[in-house]
Amino acid sequence: MIPAYTTHGPKDAPTLLLLHGFPFNQSQWKHQVEALSDTWHIITPDLRGQGKTPRGEGAVSIEFLVDDLIELLEEQGLEKIHLGGLSMGGYVALRMVDRHPELIDKLLLFDTRAEEDSNEGRVGRAGGIRTLRTKGMAALAEGLLPKLFPEGQRSGPAYDAIREMILESDPKGAQDALVAMASRLDLTKALERITQPTLIVVGSEDQLTPPDAAKAMHAAIPNATLAIIDGAGHVAPLTHPEPVNEAIREFLA
Ligand code: MLT
Repeated sequence: MIPAYTTHGPKDAPTLLLLHGFPFNQSQWKHQVEALSDTWHIITPDLRGQGKTPRGEGAVSIEFLVDDLIELLEEQGLEKIHLGGLSMGGYVALRMVDRHPELIDKLLLFDTRAEEDSNEGRVGRAGGIRTLRTKGMAALAEGLLPKLFPEGQRSGPAYDAIREMILESDPKGAQDALVAMASRLDLTKALERITQPTLIVVGSEDQLTPPDAAKAMHAAIPNATLAIIDGAGHVAPLTHPEPVNEAIREFLA
């Protein structure tokens, strides 16, 4: 269930559902909402356990996050949408298009990857959970922020906005999300089954899901377009809205 989401733009326009990354919230998409909701009906949910959507009871996996979105679409009476996701939101989007291809018209992947976590990555997730349990969100933010923003971009409005989103996140919801990401499926084999036109956007300086991961998806998805955003780190839609919005407009037009 997703109680916290916002709809923007004309209800009778094609819907673009945008899924934020970890541990952010729907405000991560504020520049896309500002620039694109004249033409598209945009829905920005807070994913389970993040933003203002509660974590609910019990374990969380990517499957439950997909189930939440299916419920949201039913609630909104929507049978076909454009689906976009950044990083963790991209993991959810890739799983959703694999499970429910009939619901997706076009797919947009921002700063994300199709591979499951490496061994090192899983050990890192466990370390993140330990940090959250013992030291809290501020300590997680301290370790994460330098990976999200390249040197020289670690101040200013976009940096402050992401820092604030992280600090406002529920530490238990963030632990759930780390478990969900660590246990997600490897979807590299699923890429060749994606028949939807797909836009892949990546920051040239993205350390967490680097351009090589985006290039691999571009090579595997039959009908994909790749946009590398010069100078951007891991949250290109927030830090470099103009080239990202231009790529989205061109792709969806
Ligand atoms: C995100 O931005 O959603 C995360 O960095 C993804 C991840 O940790 O794999």
